[in-house]
Amino acid sequence: RIADRKGIRRGRLRLGVVTTAKYIAPELLAAFGARYPGIEFSMNVNNRDEIITRLRNNQDDLYVMGQIPDNDVDVEAFPFADNPLTIMVNRGHPLARTPSPVPLAAIAEAPFLIREFGSGTRHAYLNLFAEKGLKPNIVMELGSNEAIKHAIVSGLGVSILSIHCLALEGTSGPIQILHAEGLPILRKWYLVYPRGRRLSLTAQKFLEFSATQQDFIARRLIDLWPDLSRYL
Ligand code: PGA
Repeated sequence: RIADRKGIRRGRLRLGVVTTAKYIAPELLAAFGARYPGIEFSMNVNNRDEIITRLRNNQDDLYVMGQIPDNDVDVEAFPFADNPLTIMVNRGHPLARTPSPVPLAAIAEAPFLIREFGSGTRHAYLNLFAEKGLKPNIVMELGSNEAIKHAIVSGLGVSILSIHCLALEGTSGPIQILHAEGLPILRKWYLVYPRGRRLSLTAQKFLEFSATQQDFIARRLIDLWPDLSRYL
C-alpha cells in the first residue's frame, strides 16, 4: 500500500546473518527492495557465535540464524525457511559407491573437513555424530563454507554443509550430495531480535515479507536437489 511505502521510503535495514544464510539473504533483500524502493541495506555475515555477540551489542536491526540463542539471551524468533544440512563429497568419492543410505559410521571414518569453533553448522553435525557415539575423523578446520567446498573438490575430505551452499553451481557439478543415515539435518532459519526492542517500520516490514518467502525458498531447495522432497 502506498501509505506503507511512504512510511519506509528512507528506511535503513541492517541485517546480521549466519554464513549459511548469505546464499539467500541477498535475493530476499532484492525482492524486498523492489517492493519498497529507497531502502539502504547492510548485511554482516558471520558465524553463529559472532552473530549472537552482535545481537547482544545491538549492532543490527534483525538477525538470521539457524537456531535460537540459548536461554541467556532473551529474543523474539520467527522461523521462516528451511536450511537442511547434508553430506557433500567430491564427485566419484569412494563413499559415493557405498550402498545408500551411507552409514554415519562410514562418514565418521572418512577424512572430514570441519568448520571453525562458533559455527552453528559445526555444532549441529557434532551433535549428530555424538548422538550415535561417533567422532568424525577431522583432517582440517576451515573458517568458511566456500573454502570447505574447494577443499572437498581438491580431494582433501568430505563435509556436512547447508544445501543452500550449492545454490549457484547446483548438485550435478563437482560436489555430490549423498543419502546417508541421519541426514539431512533439517534445520530452519529464524529471524531474531532482542525481546523488548522496538523494531523500525522497515524491520517490521522485512519480517512480514520474509514470512511469505517460505515456499519460494523450499522450492528453490527442491529444484537444487529434488530428492530433498522425501525429507521436507
Ligand atoms: P554458521 O551458520 O555455521 O556459519 O554458524 C549456520 C547456522 O547457525 O545455521
